[in-house]
Amino acid sequence: APVKPLTGKHILVTAGPTHEPIDPVRYIANRSSGKQGFAIAAALARRGARVSLVAGPVALPTPPGVTRIDVETAREMAAAVEAALPADAAVMVAAVADWRTEGERQKIKKQAGGATLHLTENPDILAGLGARKDRPHLLIGFAAETEKVIEHATAKLARKGADWIVANDVSGDVMGGDANTVHIVSQDGVESWDRMDKAAVADALAERIAKALA
Ligand code: C5P
Repeated sequence: APVKPLTGKHILVTAGPTHEPIDPVRYIANRSSGKQGFAIAAALARRGARVSLVAGPVALPTPPGVTRIDVETAREMAAAVEAALPADAAVMVAAVADWRTEGERQKIKKQAGGATLHLTENPDILAGLGARKDRPHLLIGFAAETEKVIEHATAKLARKGADWIVANDVSGDVMGGDANTVHIVSQDGVESWDRMDKAAVADALAERIAKALA
């Protein structure tokens, strides 16, 4: 049988949301299902890559041949990503929470007049990887936008030090759904793909990664 194109490569993938605890019974979350990131991890593993999948809280089975590291918070995800280095490529698909609270040890009691949450910025895991000396050779970020998709993705490419940004318009039914319309934004310009299911996006992206690492 022909050698699989990603044999011998280590690829890091983040997927899913993060949960940021407010107190022992409450947390901040988002609508990421993890489907696109898990499909990418599966597509890379099918092509022979050693895949480390750092996953936030999702209800999805681990794809065959993938090493999965489960985390809850953004800071746990950042530590797990660092621990998984070095990697030939990283595909950062996770919808990392932008903010966390300090996390109260006891359940916050209901009070007349409401409550105020104090939010602290989380580390940007993708930008952190982009600035490292042992940065993965190919660094890929995602950008979920509801308007000016290409413009925002192009700005993100520079800000995060990524090689490619996979931009998708999430104004419709993308989050939690099975289909996606993406644009690959890089120094070379913009490549817009037809709407396809997330498994097909994963396969096309894995093929593009294999070519870039060859
Ligand atoms: O800035 P924004 O959240 O839109 O950037 C999205 C990209 O950055 C995704 O690839 C996401 O996985 C990554 N990211 C990250 N750590 C954060 C925020 C975003 O790795 N704290």
